[in-house]
Amino acid sequence: MNIAILASGNGSNFEAIVKALKRGYIKASIKVLITDKKNAFVRKRAQKNKIKDVFVDSKRFKSRSEFDNEIIRILKKEKIDLVVLAGFMRILSESFVKTFRDRILNIHPALLPAFRGESSIKRALEYGCKVTGVTVHFIDEKVDNGPVILQVAIKIKKGETLASLEKKMHALEHKLYPLAVKLFCEKRLKIKNRHVEIK
Ligand code: GAR
Repeated sequence: MNIAILASGNGSNFEAIVKALKRGYIKASIKVLITDKKNAFVRKRAQKNKIKDVFVDSKRFKSRSEFDNEIIRILKKEKIDLVVLAGFMRILSESFVKTFRDRILNIHPALLPAFRGESSIKRALEYGCKVTGVTVHFIDEKVDNGPVILQVAIKIKKGETLASLEKKMHALEHKLYPLAVKLFCEKRLKIKNRHVEIK
């Protein structure tokens, strides 16, 4: 199973998946990290782990679909079976989703369909939610949307700060995402009528 990870930022989820591969929890190969941010810290993590990292500069392309086509070209060249979005802050075009239908995973720091988009942890806290959580899902054509694979809730306690909540959320993400990737690689995920069954 050949994996590509797409990320734009810090890359803590990238690192959690890399570690899971290294300890044999996931049996697959990470062929490439693709990023749209030249200075993203995730690139340093890739270089440290000797994983090929490719920066695709959106400024080089006239449209979103041309940018996406370049990413599709790289993914095909690397014979990618699974695309893992790990904090990739761009909306993928319909043709991208179509090309890798049911083979693109995303992690989102909220209980989808609540709090789609950015700053989800902050917004859940500010809203006064008593619980929030983490969702791993297949993506479809809409933002932070598609069949849910794993979803775990976290209580928002009295006096919770953004920093304390973020810490808990990220710790949970670093367990959940490697598990979802493992389940995919072991072909244990089946989508039926937009619902995911875990075998
Ligand atoms: C993660 O918290 C992930 O859930 C979020 O970006 C962060 C990336 O952190 N993704 C989204 O909000 C997707 N809409 P990382 O770079 O440390 O892995």
